[in-house]
Amino acid sequence: MAETAHTKRVFSGVQPTGNLTLGNYLGAVKRFVEMQSADYQTIYCMVDLHAVTASWPGSEELRDNTRELAAAFIACGLDPSQSILFNQSQVPAHTQLGWVFNCVARMGWMRRMTQFKDKAGKNSEEASVGLFTYPALMASDILIYHATHVPVGEDQRQHLELTRDIAIKFNNDFGEPDFFPVPEPIIEGVATKVMSLRDGSKKMSKSDPSDMSRINLTDDADTIAKKFRKAKTDPEPLPETLEGLEGRPEAENLVNIYAALADMTPAAVIAEFGGQQFGQFKPALADVAVEKVGGIAARMSELMADKAEIDRILGKGADRAAEIAEPILDRTYEIMGFLQSR
Ligand code: AMP
Ligand code: TRP
Repeated sequence: MAETAHTKRVFSGVQPTGNLTLGNYLGAVKRFVEMQSADYQTIYCMVDLHAVTASWPGSEELRDNTRELAAAFIACGLDPSQSILFNQSQVPAHTQLGWVFNCVARMGWMRRMTQFKDKAGKNSEEASVGLFTYPALMASDILIYHATHVPVGEDQRQHLELTRDIAIKFNNDFGEPDFFPVPEPIIEGVATKVMSLRDGSKKMSKSDPSDMSRINLTDDADTIAKKFRKAKTDPEPLPETLEGLEGRPEAENLVNIYAALADMTPAAVIAEFGGQQFGQFKPALADVAVEKVGGIAARMSELMADKAEIDRILGKGADRAAEIAEPILDRTYEIMGFLQSR
């Protein structure tokens, strides 16, 4: 089978839960765009089935969040003629392979997942079963395409480890040593964990109750400038050396954000701004943020003005995705012995 040669294929997913942040952009979408120009086939998915594991936003909201995420992807530079862009629920092979992986993954593996513990909180008896088995569906998202590379932020590292364990166990248990590739997480660069602007020990998140804790891709220039101006810092000026950032999480976060936005190293940022007060650095940071992400919101609303076109793009993406996924699902069923007589 040609598929077992494991051509370089990138897959990643983002939940359509509304309001992409600068963390999503720098940790994920910007890197999706960079990989698009490299020599990979790239597949990017709006994981709408995952987006209902914590709560259901309502049908119209879910549809619109999915379209809005597609608009954000395109506005950030993903090109539907180069990358396959689609939403997960339109390709049933994800859930079909997800069931198989529910039977491959072990309870003990799932119980170790820290994201479940974080999201379920104290009252885990009330969490949905879907939230618990979420990582098996995520493994399926990746492996149903025999994807070899998965760009994600740091918070997804453990889920990627689990995906690798599932691939290895499937291959061993069913006697097909090379059937599923063991995919590589791509967690690189200075922005794999962008922190909250209000608390340097918490990651920047869509779901943080404080809007001041994050930059949303839909924020206008004034809002971006205000949020950076009010970002928590310590009273010291920026250090003259990189080592001087140790123990100063808020300062380190702002330096890393600048570096990621300007495509510089943190050392180069320190070389330029070391010794300056935050009163000088923050406006420079706001400028580079406005320059790099300030135009995304306007492009998104242009795209959202034609929802039918977005739906058409996603439908076409789903057709292309299904063409890759279906033969892999068929072969999985054949390997396991599920009788398929029609
Ligand atoms: P989510 O919004 O949870 O579906 O995340 C989509 C992608 O963005 C994943 O690859 C995450 O790892 C990444 N991501 C989310 N928040 C951050 C953050 N604060 N810093 C870096 N990457 C992030
Ligand atoms: N769990 C990921 C997140 O919350 C989203 C996701 C679902 C994903 N399936 C995926 C990411 C497959 C990479 C590959 O960010």
